[in-house]
Amino acid sequence: MANVTVIGAQWGDEGKGKIVDWLASRADAVVRFQGGHNAGHTLVVDGNVYKLSLLPSGIVTGTLSIIGNGVVLDPWHLKSEIEKLEGQGVSITDDNFAIADNCPLILPIHRDLDGLRETAAGSGKIGTTGRGIGPAYEDKVGRRAIRVCDLAHLDSLEPQLDRLCAHHDALRAGFDQPPVDREALLAELREIAPFVLQFAQPVWKRLKKVRKAGARILFEGAQGVLLDIDHGTYPFVTSSNTVSGTAASGSGLGPNSTGFVLGIVKAYTTRVGSGPFPTELSDEVGQRLGERGHEFGTVTGRQRRCGWFDAVLVRQSCAISGVTGIALTKVDVLDGLDKVKICTGYRLRGKIMDYFPSHAADQAEVEPIYEEMDGWSESTAGARSWADLPANAIKYIQRVQELIETPVALVSTSPEREDTILVRDPFVD
Ligand code: GDP
Ligand code: IMO
Ligand code: MG
Repeated sequence: MANVTVIGAQWGDEGKGKIVDWLASRADAVVRFQGGHNAGHTLVVDGNVYKLSLLPSGIVTGTLSIIGNGVVLDPWHLKSEIEKLEGQGVSITDDNFAIADNCPLILPIHRDLDGLRETAAGSGKIGTTGRGIGPAYEDKVGRRAIRVCDLAHLDSLEPQLDRLCAHHDALRAGFDQPPVDREALLAELREIAPFVLQFAQPVWKRLKKVRKAGARILFEGAQGVLLDIDHGTYPFVTSSNTVSGTAASGSGLGPNSTGFVLGIVKAYTTRVGSGPFPTELSDEVGQRLGERGHEFGTVTGRQRRCGWFDAVLVRQSCAISGVTGIALTKVDVLDGLDKVKICTGYRLRGKIMDYFPSHAADQAEVEPIYEEMDGWSESTAGARSWADLPANAIKYIQRVQELIETPVALVSTSPEREDTILVRDPFVD
């Protein structure tokens, strides 16, 4: 298995960016295959912090970084993110960066619609990142999206604009909004087109070449399995498939190319936005996890909800995504707790459940069943080997892998790239 597919196994923000960056120096290409700039992946290298939303996390090491067709791409955001990273000394050229020319675009009208819907939904809102992700994916499957390759053919865009605007004008009218300003939209697209087109190509072809040469590909997922449009806590989900299978369809390679599926799992649970969360803690332990873990969204700055580790959810995510091994992150955030709890099952109206039910009402109602373990007072922060971990932390990690029925491949003990324990190498396993 020369390739590795990294996915989040909870509700996102598990530390995917850190792990992808750590693995990237040994990969020949890093590919984002779904989502868009709703993602926020934070990398810390020698104290320097890099925040990536759209660019693959391999870009910081200079590894060939590719945005696959499964991503929805906001071209204006792309430009500003590239400029920001260049300002931090990261070099981004058509040599080390490519965008799939069949990638659908996120336009300002998608962001408008995202915001209008969330405002109208009031307390029933999803709590989206407001970046137009859902509306852009809707236009993709509705066959009226404008794609990267269209930027090279703006003179013949009228029929596509007719289709797109007919749809959006009707929706906008329902929100008392004026019709789409077609001229302004076209002018904005003309202005940004050359910037995007310098990186555009059929990336499936480039990846085919990389693969043929025997090179290692690292697929970088965004969000997490519990935000998957099919398998997540619907409707409180994102609008793409976040499971490992999307790595193939979202980049233009076959399902036999995804290799070792590395599920990124936080040692406790967080969620940003609305929706069910059985192990959520509204007490001082939840507050402590949030403070020690700096649980604030990279994209929106929102405070993340925090709770105990939920082994039922992660076991389900690992099964659904065919996870080969996990990277357990933020173990250090649990340091100093007298007791730690793990959810091992649910009670729903008197019945014991060993899985998370599909219906939203059941999901909201399940009560967690906990197992309690002794915590550890020693610090695990910065540990780089198994021997550096206190006995109770090891017991916790071993119990986690037993309950989720999936082995631990990596353990992360701080935001820094090198503060990572290798248990089993995903590239050679
Ligand atoms: P992603 O969306 O999955 O890439 O995760 P985010 O970057 O949104 O959130 C994870 C946060 O935790 C970031 O601020 C990371 O720098 C940080 N982080 C990652 N791994 C660790 C770890 O092992 N310990 C601690 N304390 N922080 C970590
Ligand atoms: P990374 O890649 C955490 C959540 C939003 C909201 C729901 C739908 O950093 O793990 P959207 O804007 O996608 O339509 O919002 O999904 N969400 C994330 N939560 N991490 C993310 O990405 C997320 N991307 C979207 O908060 O609940
Ligand atoms: Mg994030």
